[in-house]
Amino acid sequence: MDKIIIKGAKPLRGTVKISGSKNSGLPILFAALLTDEPSIIENVPRLADINTTVSFMNFIGKKTVQKGSKVFTYQSKHYGHVAPYDLVRKMRASVLIMGPLIARLKRVDVSLPGGCAIGARPVDIHLDAFKKLGAQISVEGGYVKMTAPGGLKGTDINFRFASVGATENVMLAAVLAKGTTKIINAAKEPEIEDLADVLNKMGADVKGAGTKLIVIKGVEKLKGFKHSVIPDRIEAATYLLASAITKGEITLQNVCPPHLRAVIDKLKKSGLSIGERGNEIAAKWTKELKPINISTAVYPGFPTDVQAQWTALMCLLKGKSKVCENVFENRFLHIAELQRFGANTAIDGKCVNIDGVKEFSGAPVMVSDLRAGAALVLAGLAAKGKTVISRIYHLDRGYEMLEKKFKKLGADIRRVKSA
Ligand code: UD1
Repeated sequence: MDKIIIKGAKPLRGTVKISGSKNSGLPILFAALLTDEPSIIENVPRLADINTTVSFMNFIGKKTVQKGSKVFTYQSKHYGHVAPYDLVRKMRASVLIMGPLIARLKRVDVSLPGGCAIGARPVDIHLDAFKKLGAQISVEGGYVKMTAPGGLKGTDINFRFASVGATENVMLAAVLAKGTTKIINAAKEPEIEDLADVLNKMGADVKGAGTKLIVIKGVEKLKGFKHSVIPDRIEAATYLLASAITKGEITLQNVCPPHLRAVIDKLKKSGLSIGERGNEIAAKWTKELKPINISTAVYPGFPTDVQAQWTALMCLLKGKSKVCENVFENRFLHIAELQRFGANTAIDGKCVNIDGVKEFSGAPVMVSDLRAGAALVLAGLAAKGKTVISRIYHLDRGYEMLEKKFKKLGADIRRVKSA
């Protein structure tokens, strides 16, 4: 298994080009299953989760090829309806296969998902919504088996929680349902708007994406599309935090600053100098930063996917702060690892109390999930001495060319192969 070795305590300086959004690319790739026509998706990051999705599409019967940052899907005739454990276990977002396949084939069998080890992560909101749309569902042998012999029928669906994945899954199904579907308490994340853009390019009728109420009028058929995926706001936030934690100066290119508003506001409050111009953000450390409390929430709140990285920064700022996680259960697996660098933290229910320390010293640490991994990289970049990070396959799921990008910014970081 590969490891990342960092010799830290160097301010990072320079420019970094942010990749396309993983979380947008995944549902958009699945959207290509809604048509037999070819499609082209641009600005797609080269990541393990995208590879998994490309394999998935090919397995189902849609020839799909990634060349650089473009993904091409080809003319297709027949799809299979079974999503096996071997593919689904690698990535929770595999459940997004349900929407397109139930819409097109009126049946789908999906193995129950795996993915990051953060909390229970059930799929009840997805399944309740499909039931409302007219699907019959049973769970057998670890598979969710869903049929809709008469086709799906549009209806009102009121989510108990604004789940990102469930909103996307319902959109992917309802575009081909009979009649109108209203998603009430829909997720408002930018990735939802990006998916709606794609569906509308395909000939769907989706209105209200980005608000709490999405209205979808079903159509008979959808066509191929060409689309460029939005920038990855979580990767961007991670590099902003890198400039803060290493006391550096980093300019981010190919970003959408409004998507990062919550993170930018908190960083500015902490004292980081941040300027925005078009699709660039320039961050510069000019003075000691102040600890700032955060509490994660659905968009436009502070993203749960930046909570671990924020925590790493707070651990190094003089004074006390509190980080509360409201979206996922058990998303504090990075806390024990940060303590290995010297962090002074105590978990109290869904919050972590932090008392900042003067410095971190490098340590051997292990990644538990994708964003926890990003927090450990940031901690390693700030720490004096050598940090060895193992189980980095989690990072490869979500950060394109991580070492290369950090190296370009002046970091002493390398990947080593080990048995
Ligand atoms: C997506 C993102 C992930 C991000 C998360 C929240 C992708 C591929 N992943 O994940 O990076 O952290 O949004 O912004 O886009 N829940 C249920 N029942 C369900 C569905 C969800 O209880 O049927 C709960 C989950 O356990 C979790 C919360 O709702 O506690 C948020 O989940 P959700 O918004 O669905 O996240 P994902 O779509 O899995």
